[in-house]
Amino acid sequence: MNTKELREKFFQFYKGYDHKLIPSASLLPENDPTVLFTTAGMHPLVPFLLGSPHPEGKRLVNVQKCIRTQDIDDVGDAWHSTFFEMLGYWSLGDYFKKEAIERTFAFLTKQLGFDANSLAVTVFMGEGSIPSDEESYSIWKNLGFSNDQIFKLGKEENFWGPAGMTGPCGPCSETFFVTTPNCNFGRTDCSPACKCGRYVELCNNVFMQYDKKGDGSFTLLPQKNVDFGMGLLRVVSIFNHLNSIYESDVYSASMQYLKSLSNELTIEQRRIIVDHIQAAMFAIGDGIRPNNVGAGYIVRRLLRRAFRLANQAKLQKEYIEKLVKSYGHVYEVQYPEIIAKQSEILQAIYEEEDKFVLALGQGLKYFEKELERLQARSKADNQTVISGQTAFYMFETFGFPLEVTQEIAKERGFSVDVAGFTLSFQEHQEKSRMAGDKLFKGGLADNSETVTKLHTATHLLHEALRKVLGPHVEQKGSNITAERLRFDFSHPNKLTDEELKKVETLVNEQIQKQLSISVNDMSIDDAQVSGAIGLFESKYGARVSVYSIGNFSKEICGGPHVKNTSELGRFSIKKEEASSRGVRRIKAVLD
Ligand code: SER
Repeated sequence: MNTKELREKFFQFYKGYDHKLIPSASLLPENDPTVLFTTAGMHPLVPFLLGSPHPEGKRLVNVQKCIRTQDIDDVGDAWHSTFFEMLGYWSLGDYFKKEAIERTFAFLTKQLGFDANSLAVTVFMGEGSIPSDEESYSIWKNLGFSNDQIFKLGKEENFWGPAGMTGPCGPCSETFFVTTPNCNFGRTDCSPACKCGRYVELCNNVFMQYDKKGDGSFTLLPQKNVDFGMGLLRVVSIFNHLNSIYESDVYSASMQYLKSLSNELTIEQRRIIVDHIQAAMFAIGDGIRPNNVGAGYIVRRLLRRAFRLANQAKLQKEYIEKLVKSYGHVYEVQYPEIIAKQSEILQAIYEEEDKFVLALGQGLKYFEKELERLQARSKADNQTVISGQTAFYMFETFGFPLEVTQEIAKERGFSVDVAGFTLSFQEHQEKSRMAGDKLFKGGLADNSETVTKLHTATHLLHEALRKVLGPHVEQKGSNITAERLRFDFSHPNKLTDEELKKVETLVNEQIQKQLSISVNDMSIDDAQVSGAIGLFESKYGARVSVYSIGNFSKEICGGPHVKNTSELGRFSIKKEEASSRGVRRIKAVLD
């Protein structure tokens, strides 16, 4: 079974239980300020998990493109990647634990043929104000699981979400494949929480019944949901008795190809290159360009890490095109955008490669000077160690890996303070983590009133831009915090002061007109015919919600919105700037 067949098997199984297939959303989370990328299938569904009715009903199924960067340093091992596809299904206030667990079990054992004895599961043991999940425990027991196949674990392991600081969350029940009879670390208390690699996670049923509030308390959601996720490549690889996801059909051709190009690349390095180029390709395909902030910065780091390794192994540039084309072949049916935007993607990657080559040259120049200075000084104090900060500066600013800095240093009789480098690196990670937390805190995942108002203002801005600049204006990104909206859109030139004024006035006129907002559910074709703007990427004849603001704007969207534009206050544009080539960015507020 290959990945295409597994996707299809999963869809068919859940369609059999009346789930509607919905398309994969963009990797760029729309209107969700709490995350840089879509990290799970539930992100685009947050409003519906909180209680808004979904136009497709209460049972959904899909495969979602995801990027998770927290494991970036683990990429290179057998099971980690930054980009992955998550198979998911949801019950939005419909069935709950019994059906969910029984179907997961049936899918794994009857559809995929996994031996129940090779599986282990976890349930929530209870912690704080949330009680232990006895119900899931007995459901697994009734399915024949023995006590030593069911592990009760705490919040750290068995409570999922919220994705940001607030929002839907709940206890979960994970299913694992047991790879070895005993703990690989020799521990007697080995469990799925152990990092020895004995238990590989296959999937997770999250029983989303709580809403975490800003003050840290949990309230019950108006409905009980099931949010299920399964790593497509992990399952297909284990099913096929492979030792790594990098042996699966998605990666095997590109791994082989890199091997044929150079003996200098280790298997870990090849895994890093194929994963990072793939993640960057999908991110660029969804409109994220390499730059120095947020998601764009992650794309830059992914690409530069891959370039650096390729550069060391003296690969010629064409490996990039070969890899991107190989992925195009693998994904053309599931993600046709990768083919449609292939030349755009390649151009963006090559531009970044050019910049990187320049940075490498600049880095060498800087390092030469630094070495001269140190050589002069060492004559006086015999000091031949390059500080960890300098090595980290080389890494951070010029993309120099520690090993390269060490090699050049060694040629001049210097060594590098590796412990100092690690310390600087950790400090930097801590700062990034804190910045990440701040991002969570700065943004509101709880659909607060301010965010809702800014969301409606975003629709007004979008339409106003189209009226003033022309219909070529298309949304390329949207990010809303409690303070401001940020809207990226396609337009070739900087906006003039006059154009900005016109747009601002047009939005404020709609606010003064006290237009009411209405929502209609319709098929995607009807939405298109009705003149609604938004993403028409569905391949499944999906139903969508169309929000109308008076007769001014009509846009496909998941909501939520205010009821009347009179609630918005005064709209003012604070900044207009370039976001990337052909894409402008506006930041605006409501006073
Ligand atoms: N949201 C859950 C997860 O990411 C289930 O999909 O594991």
